[in-house]
Amino acid sequence: MSSVPSPTVNRCPDLAALSRAAARDLTTDIQETLRTQDRYTLALAGGSTPERLYALLAAEEEGSLPWSQIHLFWGDERFVPADHPKSNTRMATDTLLEAVPIPDHQVHPMPTHLASPDAAAAAYTETLQEHFADRSRTFDTVLLGLGSDGHTASLFPETGTAEARRSDDAWVRAVTAPPRHEISSRLTCTIPTLSGARRAVFLVAGEEKRSALTQVLDHADPSLPAAQIRPRDTLLWFVDAAARPSSPE
Ligand code: 6PG
Repeated sequence: MSSVPSPTVNRCPDLAALSRAAARDLTTDIQETLRTQDRYTLALAGGSTPERLYALLAAEEEGSLPWSQIHLFWGDERFVPADHPKSNTRMATDTLLEAVPIPDHQVHPMPTHLASPDAAAAAYTETLQEHFADRSRTFDTVLLGLGSDGHTASLFPETGTAEARRSDDAWVRAVTAPPRHEISSRLTCTIPTLSGARRAVFLVAGEEKRSALTQVLDHADPSLPAAQIRPRDTLLWFVDAAARPSSPE
């Protein structure tokens, strides 16, 4: 029975410092990993918190990141066109992809141009299965965010039961976000697919995330999807002071 990595919490003064720390961590892991393997697989997070990190990766000194050996995937997506202002692919394109020499065939966005979310989920499952033999060994690093309701990727507390999420036999699902979220139709990797990553790296900033972060880190409340991510080796949290005051309440 493989042991579950305990979370390492990197507390930073603010989002700028958090993004720099996360960029250093990711750049180091990419450089070190590519000493012993010929490609690096990275699943990107959506939302707004990762924007600065992506911009920092884009601004990395020429050659410090071997983009010719990096494959990019997405942990989740809003079922909107890729150029839609709320598209996670659009955000990553604007902040990172347009600025780095990564070959197009190594960029694997979720196919929201397909006729339905279910068709897109099925197609992305095939894409992942072309790159990963099974769900227990997926990405080198998956980047994740945290919603103030404890969701991560597009896995919401209302997305089935905690047990159903944990034992989901799908790689990717089409889900409907609760009405409090602007974009309802979503695509998301499931808990087992995300937990198949070697490293899971959460980026969390802002006071509105404080209560959910306490629930996840201090109480490991399994009813919150973010508390169910169990990567193979490393579970890292980059949090800012607003989300995690020095002494958790
Ligand atoms: C999405 C994300 C989602 C996000 C959180 C945090 O598509 O919405 O993948 O899980 O990470 O909602 O979003 P913010 O970073 O904008 O607070």
